[in-house]
Amino acid sequence: GAAVEIDIAGMQPDEMRTVEWRGKPVWVVRRTPEQVAELSKIDNELADPNSLRDPAQFTPPYAQNQWRSIKPEYLVVVGICTHLGCSPSAKFEAGAQPSLPSSWPGGFLCPCHGSTFDMAGRVFKNKPAPDNLEVPPHMYLSDTKILIG
Ligand code: FES
Repeated sequence: GAAVEIDIAGMQPDEMRTVEWRGKPVWVVRRTPEQVAELSKIDNELADPNSLRDPAQFTPPYAQNQWRSIKPEYLVVVGICTHLGCSPSAKFEAGAQPSLPSSWPGGFLCPCHGSTFDMAGRVFKNKPAPDNLEVPPHMYLSDTKILIG
């Protein structure tokens, strides 16, 4: 499939932009410094914190790090649940949903069977989704443009 560009100029913390790539939604999220810091604190609650499971499919080498991204501030993931393909919703602040882990710092929640993902798209333990959200192949063309694909 053809590669697509996404313009991230002017993105604010907590902002998400979506671009379609190969018929899939790709999300770019600008994380806050607090959200970036949080990523190092919850490894023991995650099924695959270091993205070691099937990295060839889900995590390119340049995203095999704590942030699962090239730049800590920007997350780039495919917005499709790795369980049965529903579209998770984004939730960027820890909040009052009682069914969610109390330590959940926000991230993504799949409405179909309740899988939760952190702000790096890493799935929490004991959820139906077997894998972290896919990080698509991508590169920065400049500070404000990312090429997906
Ligand atoms: Fe997302 Fe089942 S499709 S939890």
